[in-house]
Amino acid sequence: MIFVTGGAGFIGANFILHWAAQCDEPVLNLDVLTYAGNAENLASLTADSNASAYRHEQVDICDEAAVAALFAEHRPRAIVHFAAESHVDRSILGPAEFVRTNINGTFNLLQCALAYWKGLGAEEAAAFRFLHVSTDEVYGSLGPDDAPFSETTPYAPNSPYSASKAASDHLVRAYFHTYGLPVLTTNCSNNYGPFQFPEKLIPLTITNALEGKPLPIYGDGRNVRDWLFVGDHCSAIALVLDKGTCGEVYNVGGENERTNLEVVHTLCATLDALRPKPSGRYADQIAYVKDRPGHDRRYSIDATKLRERLGWSPLENFETGIDRTVRWYLDNQPWVAHVKDGSYRHWIEHQYAGGGTATDTVDVLEGHPT
Ligand code: NAD
Ligand code: DAU
Repeated sequence: MIFVTGGAGFIGANFILHWAAQCDEPVLNLDVLTYAGNAENLASLTADSNASAYRHEQVDICDEAAVAALFAEHRPRAIVHFAAESHVDRSILGPAEFVRTNINGTFNLLQCALAYWKGLGAEEAAAFRFLHVSTDEVYGSLGPDDAPFSETTPYAPNSPYSASKAASDHLVRAYFHTYGLPVLTTNCSNNYGPFQFPEKLIPLTITNALEGKPLPIYGDGRNVRDWLFVGDHCSAIALVLDKGTCGEVYNVGGENERTNLEVVHTLCATLDALRPKPSGRYADQIAYVKDRPGHDRRYSIDATKLRERLGWSPLENFETGIDRTVRWYLDNQPWVAHVKDGSYRHWIEHQYAGGGTATDTVDVLEGHPT
């Protein structure tokens, strides 16, 4: 089996669903279920009669004894590590949790994986993989004419979030060079698609638009991100896990650079076509707000290495990916409602009769950080 950490979050859940659609190899999801973890994302697997291929363990990746016990009990052949605090604005308001989970949590996983790996026989040890999922934000900010980030771009993180991810990347690298742990690292650009928590730009815009709320644009709206449909990120991770060279880094990106204004206008136009308002257009709801402190101006990824060495290519372009995403949010209004009213935090209690407490989710979604 494989371990997936943070599998109840946006990308982790998409990855587990992608994995289950491709193969029968069991997955154990190690996820403590923070506000960003939603066990309902995997309801289609837990409701499946063949549920033995998927299990969730509500565990904190910082809990050494619990993680070590899971390695000993389940003897995974690989671990795909998504669990993190992932929202830049939250890292500005409260960096401590980012240091704890992203740095200490990754350190703890590396320690547990190393101890487990050292006890494996030669064949199993050679096959074992620790795949660390990271971000392009570790490379810092680009000017308009700068070349895209490559795997050798020097690290220059600018937010507590990206600094904590950079630190975790360095630890992963060190465990390869010092101890020989078979690690792989992927650094990906901005993802979008189904199940993304509506604190991030694209789901926030879609859900606020439908509720008649303002669509907040930070600063002048001309910051650029390189957007990748989440399913294409999942296929890249599965490929790197299968064929990547240990100790190497692979950048993953969509080659879809857009300003935030372009993204929001595309979403509004898609909604105008699919769910027209009785009067006016969704773009009328756009509202300029105070900029994010230390806001990186531009990200762009050069994914040549992944394409040429491993043969990866994305299936979606920006237009098809956005169309799929908007339709998903329109078709999954109960999911949106459960997130917005906080009831998704109780889903796990109904499902497993344990864990999960409602916290400040509703306040968080309504109280915009700016
Ligand atoms: P997310 O915030 O949606 O999900 C994070 C998940 O991790 C949640 O299910 C949460 O419950 C879990 N988690 C958090 N702390 C934990 C802990 N201490 N122990 C166990 N579980 C814990 O994040 P995401 O957007 O799905 O991102 C997943 C990974 O991909 C992160 O490492 C992130 O840095 C990276 N990444 C994200 C993007 C993006 O655009 N979202 C892009 C590149 C890289
Ligand atoms: O680049 C990869 C990173 O992408 C991941 O590592 C992070 O986990 C993920 O959160 C994302 O970070 P960003 O900060 O780029 O994503 P976010 O959706 O928060 O913001 C995208 C852009 O939109 C950014 O320039 C800030 C802007 N923005 C965001 C929000 C939430 C707005 O203008 N208004 C908003 O309300």
